[in-house]
This record gives sequence, C-alpha cells and structure tokens, in this order.
Amino acid sequence: MTRLIIDTDPGVDDAIAIAIAALSPDTDLLGVTTVYGNVGLAKTTRNALRLLELCGRDDVPVAAGAAMPLVHPQKRRDSTAHGDDGLSGHADVLPEPSRDAVAGGAVGLMASLLEQSEEPVTIAPIGPLTNIAVLLAAYPHLKPKIERLVIMGGALEGGNVSARAEFNVWSDPEAARRVLVEEDVPSVLVPMDLTYRCAVDTAWLERLAASGHVGEALRALTPDYVRHYTGALGWPCMVVHDAVAIVEAITPGTLATESLPVDIECSFGPSRGAVIADRRRQAQIDDTVALDGNRVDVAVDTDIDQLRAVLLDGITEKREI
Ligand code: BDR
Ligand code: CA
Repeated sequence: MTRLIIDTDPGVDDAIAIAIAALSPDTDLLGVTTVYGNVGLAKTTRNALRLLELCGRDDVPVAAGAAMPLVHPQKRRDSTAHGDDGLSGHADVLPEPSRDAVAGGAVGLMASLLEQSEEPVTIAPIGPLTNIAVLLAAYPHLKPKIERLVIMGGALEGGNVSARAEFNVWSDPEAARRVLVEEDVPSVLVPMDLTYRCAVDTAWLERLAASGHVGEALRALTPDYVRHYTGALGWPCMVVHDAVAIVEAITPGTLATESLPVDIECSFGPSRGAVIADRRRQAQIDDTVALDGNRVDVAVDTDIDQLRAVLLDGITEKREI
C-alpha cells in the first residue's frame, strides 16, 4: 500500500493523475495540496475539490498552497493547453464540491500528514515545486518521513514552455533547484522526454470514456488539450505527463531510471528553467567539471503499451462511488 500525497495544479493531465490515485485500491491517498501553475491557485484548488468529488473521495483533505513562485514573479499560465479554467473550459462537467479546502495551507497539511504517519509517505509533485521547497525548508526534521518524491518535470532535450525548459520547472526554477539539487530527499524525476513518448491516441480516449462515469467525465475535459498536443506532436493524441508520474508513485519501478547528477538553470537567459543532467560516463566526469548537487533518479524508459493499459485500468472504477 503506497501512502501518497499529491501536490498539483489541475490541469487536464493532473485530473487523470488524481483520479488514478483516488481510485487505486493499492494507494492510501492521504491528501491533495494545490499550487498555482496551469491556472491560478483559486481555480486549481476548486478543480482538485471537484475531481475528488467526482471520484467519491471527499474524505481526502485538500489544502491550498502557493499562489506564486518563491522569488521571481511568473505570470504565464498554461491556458493554451488547459483552457482558462484549467480543464479545457469544461470544469462544469464535474460535480460542485461539497466542502472547502482545509485551513492551515498546503505546507501545513503536508507537515501534519507526515508527522502523523507511522510509515514513510511518497509525495508526488505534479506542478511547480514551490510548496515542496517551502516544506523542505521549514520542516527539515520531517524529511526522513518522506519515502521519495516522484516529480513530473524537466526536459533532458528540448522543452515545452521554452526551447530548453519544461513548464513545471520553468515556473519556479529556484524552488526546483532547492528540491532537486540542494536537498537530499530521494527523488525520481519524470521528464517530458519520457511523458511525450507515452502520449495516448483517440482510441485510448474512447476507451477512457467507456470505462465508467469517472472516465466519461475525464474524457469531456480533453478537447482543447487534444487539440494542443495534436498540433505539438503532429498526430491526434494527448500527453498525460502527470499520470505517468503517478503510476510510478503508486507502483515503484514502473519506469526505468538513471541516477544522474542534475542542476537547474536559474539565470535569466534563454535557458532559464532548464534541467542540466550530466549523462557522461563517470570516467569522463572524473577528469572534468562535475555537478556537485544531489543525484536524482531520472526516468528514461518504460514499457509504453503496458503503461497506457495501466493508466486506463487505473481509471476503470473498482471502488463503490
Ligand atoms: C506539466 O505542465 C503542465 O502543463 C502539466 O500539467 C504537467 O504537469 C508538463 O510540462
Ligand atoms: Ca500539472
């Protein structure tokens, strides 16, 4: 049983990720915390509440976190891919939340869940890393309670928000650097290089719609998102970035990883927000300039057809809703 906290900015792919965790019989979903990102914090929080309502999980506490990055303001939201409401303009197909976010905020909720848990907890950050940087800075004594971070973010080759950077890391590079380079919590980074390869096609979406009432509602959230990725990749598809990370969080080892030294570009040049991962052989590194931060397990491969099947299976309803 994976004890899990999701930190998220829903987001169409976040929506699929949350549903998989909320419906998983192998997961104890302890809490969902929200962050600005694809859209502003009020909308990401409302979307998270609505998604848990859809999944019959109003027992899972939701808390709102950062409304902006740690240091440098970044006003760009991702409405081209996710629509103005974060859910392709179709958030209204989801049920109204029957409750509010809990008081105390995202970092407070994560800290109290970690404190109360007897077993280590996996945290899956699938938005900008602002809340996680604050958690690690403010509660260093709780780090041993974190089994691992499974983070969707970064790009080893070309980015999506700029030529070099992926959206989540680019949104708050200073926070990403704190989490991935300066801290020492075991971390898996699931970059867009791999998530793009796991894109799902329209036949997958039809199966999603037929999988039950959750799948049907999720399918209704995808039109803008599919249009965006059809343009980006050149074939009718969508990329479910965050759901790929959630499957790894629930079932460790789903993704093949390489342990790599990484750094995050925090300058204001054209590479701001880039992940620099040193993939040279150790013998080569020994003689030259090495990165001296934490090593991160970077996800580089998986059985893609199997993963697509697991994603669908995860949404097919197994609990009484
Ligand atoms: C990441 O950014 C957002 O658009 C997605 O929800 C995902 O977390 C992909 O770059
Ligand atoms: Ca996200």
